[in-house]
Amino acid sequence: MSGIVKQFPGVRALDGVDLEVLPGEVHCLLGQNGAGKSTLIKTLAGAHQPDAGVIRLGGREVRLTGPVAAIRLGISTIYQELDLVDGLSVADNIFLGHEKARFGFTRTAEAHRAASGLLTRLGHGEIPPATEVGALPPAGKQVVSMARALSHDARLIVMDEPSAALAHDEVDNLFRTVRELTAQGVAVVYISHRLEEIREIGDRVTVLKDGRTVAVGLPADTPTREIVSLMTGRDVEHVFPARRDPGSHEGRAEVLRVEGLTVPGVFEDISFAVREGEIVGLAGLVGSGRSEILEAVYGARKASGKVLVDGKPVRGVSSAVRLGLGLAPEERKAQALLLEESVARNITLGGLARYARLGWLDRGSELADAGRQIDELGIRPADPGRPIRTLSGGNQQKAVLARWLVDRRRLLLLDEPTRGVDVGARADLYAVIRRLADEGIGVLLVSSEIPEVLGLADRVLVIRDGRNVHESDARELDEHRVLDLIMEGSAL
Ligand SMILES: Nc1ncnc2c1ncn2[C@@H]1O[C@H](COP(=O)(O)OP(=O)(O)OP(=O)(O)O)[C@@H](O)[C@H]1O
Ligand SMILES: [Mg+2]
Repeated sequence: MSGIVKQFPGVRALDGVDLEVLPGEVHCLLGQNGAGKSTLIKTLAGAHQPDAGVIRLGGREVRLTGPVAAIRLGISTIYQELDLVDGLSVADNIFLGHEKARFGFTRTAEAHRAASGLLTRLGHGEIPPATEVGALPPAGKQVVSMARALSHDARLIVMDEPSAALAHDEVDNLFRTVRELTAQGVAVVYISHRLEEIREIGDRVTVLKDGRTVAVGLPADTPTREIVSLMTGRDVEHVFPARRDPGSHEGRAEVLRVEGLTVPGVFEDISFAVREGEIVGLAGLVGSGRSEILEAVYGARKASGKVLVDGKPVRGVSSAVRLGLGLAPEERKAQALLLEESVARNITLGGLARYARLGWLDRGSELADAGRQIDELGIRPADPGRPIRTLSGGNQQKAVLARWLVDRRRLLLLDEPTRGVDVGARADLYAVIRRLADEGIGVLLVSSEIPEVLGLADRVLVIRDGRNVHESDARELDEHRVLDLIMEGSAL
């Protein structure tokens, strides 16, 4: 791709980007939130038409008039926002829009067999091809989306943050598949905000900044410092904000007390407390029950046992909200955002009542509040009126957190709060979360990134197979020990 330009109303998303990918290589695309990565790969997928620039495939200039044209030429894409159809089966989703769907398979059984084959190749033979996709957890959806990309005989596969919804062992499966593909000469474009992944799987790196290519063909083992300063134009020094001294939460009031919380088959006998000003982290694999625990605390999932906020029982979501709980869920698209609404409205959503005066919305102060958060979190573009669906993935995530800055709560439940957020903005989000805690808010944090849990939380619970297998001060743990507890707890 050379000199690619893409203009949206008011935003020049791509301003002359170059990208060169060789057969059999894993080419990583790095850049801050909003740098233009997803837009670039959407032009490569035929989903966007570039305003200028040339795309060559195998040396030949091509025009990608639409997604089907791209797929026909052997370009398969796994999008950042999964584009699966919830109401259709796993197999139907995999072969959606496929010629095979109509002509190749004479019977459903055959399509199911083919789907199973692809899922097995991805290390997920256990996903039943007949299940509705909507019933799968996020990681399962990600696997289905990958199986769909594999179902076309692609020579270039583009993956936009494929690992964001995956746990450690699943990332291993993904990487195994990527290695198999590249060994066969397939080229892979890989987007991720996790630099350690780039080191592990990447061959070369292209860095985007503000819609321009700022570095091409860097080796994947370029030092982090260098990559980060290319991405951000600055050095990111202190990633995690300072914690209070150990034990400083003792004696402070308990915001949350959970006793014997159980959902049969999901998690069992979970007990813990969160004090004012304390950040408690739940570490564990995707599927270990962490997100479900958060949902049960929020009253969104029927569970036996007790959930007390300031000593009062939570009985369903509306009582949770009344008692001052706020949830930032894992699937922000589906669960947290009003996609057609403005950035401002999404930020002020929780406190709308505050802007209602005599039946009229006080838009002035709504916009002022939203504007403050946009500045503080560095949401880009800094335009409160823009529909939130047009923001990049990481910027949408920041807006979800911004909501809880406007609408202060007693206890925040944060599920993967930095998923898809770039390294620079991550440090900003961590600082915001710590500041909220310092103001006395309790925080219950779920993250698949162990360094994040260890760096941000005061206390850590390790969840394995729905059980709390360990609880201690975060400073007494290191990444190895947590991984060991998460995986099998063998080296006790
Ligand atoms: N459909 C659209 N309409 C208007 N603006 C858009 C649209 N899609 C993207 N943009 C803008 O283009 C810019 C680049 O966005 P893009 O999604 O490509 O970023 P990204 O590098 O993928 O970021 P992230 O790491 O957060 O996913 C952003 O400013 C974004 O707001
Ligand atoms: Mg993106």
